[in-house]
Amino acid sequence: MKCFALALAAVLLGGVAGCERQMRGMYQQPRYDPGEGSSLFPDGKAARPPAPGSVPAAAGQLAATSSGRRGREVPAQWQAADAAGSPAPITRALLLHGRERYEIFCMPCHSPVGDGDGPVVRRGFPRPPTYHQQRLREAPDRHFFDVMTHGHGIMYSYADRITPEDRWAIVAYIRALQLSQHVQLSALPPALRESLPASPAVPASGSAGAAR
Ligand code: HEC
Repeated sequence: MKCFALALAAVLLGGVAGCERQMRGMYQQPRYDPGEGSSLFPDGKAARPPAPGSVPAAAGQLAATSSGRRGREVPAQWQAADAAGSPAPITRALLLHGRERYEIFCMPCHSPVGDGDGPVVRRGFPRPPTYHQQRLREAPDRHFFDVMTHGHGIMYSYADRITPEDRWAIVAYIRALQLSQHVQLSALPPALRESLPASPAVPASGSAGAAR
């Protein structure tokens, strides 16, 4: 009996060793390393140049030292758009586009109204500050753009997912959200103002007005 068990163990171990050999074979497939040469192409390089019009997701020193994971340098053509500031005039179409992008990328944490009570936060993610506080009402548009571009505290950057044009559309929509919770009666068109109940039924700062 003992002898049989030993034989069985030997057979099983042999099987495992065979498996391991097969796996090694998969790990060690022929491939080119970065910068390696190849006689296959006329320029002697194994790496092919990117197709015309390719946009790098990551570039520069940080990308080179981290397999691209930490490369946050903004490609030159985006930098130009960044420097120009908000490029498009604020129209209904731009706001609707900003709303769509906001609901995809920001709403999960910042909530549909921007008070920081989004579905991801309800499941335990740290709560972001509400947009409806004095500091963020007074912050320049550029601040929102920069937070999306570079991240802020524990919020990571969206530079690689949202183009500068779309970031400005989101900024415009966040401004509309802020206005929706905090508007001076005197800023409303007369017809709308008159249609509202006399006072003080409309609070000046809206329900989400408190700072965090
Ligand atoms: C995964 C959750 C999450 C998503 C998605 C997210 N944020 Fe945030 N955001 C946070 C958190 C958390 C903070 C607070 C960060 C801190 O203070 O450490 C924050 C802070 C901010 C702030 C406040 C910065 C300040 O001055 O205090 C702004 C503005 C902001 N986010 C805008 C956005 C925009 C615009 C988007 C969509 C493009 C977005 N966030 C997407 C979690 C998120």
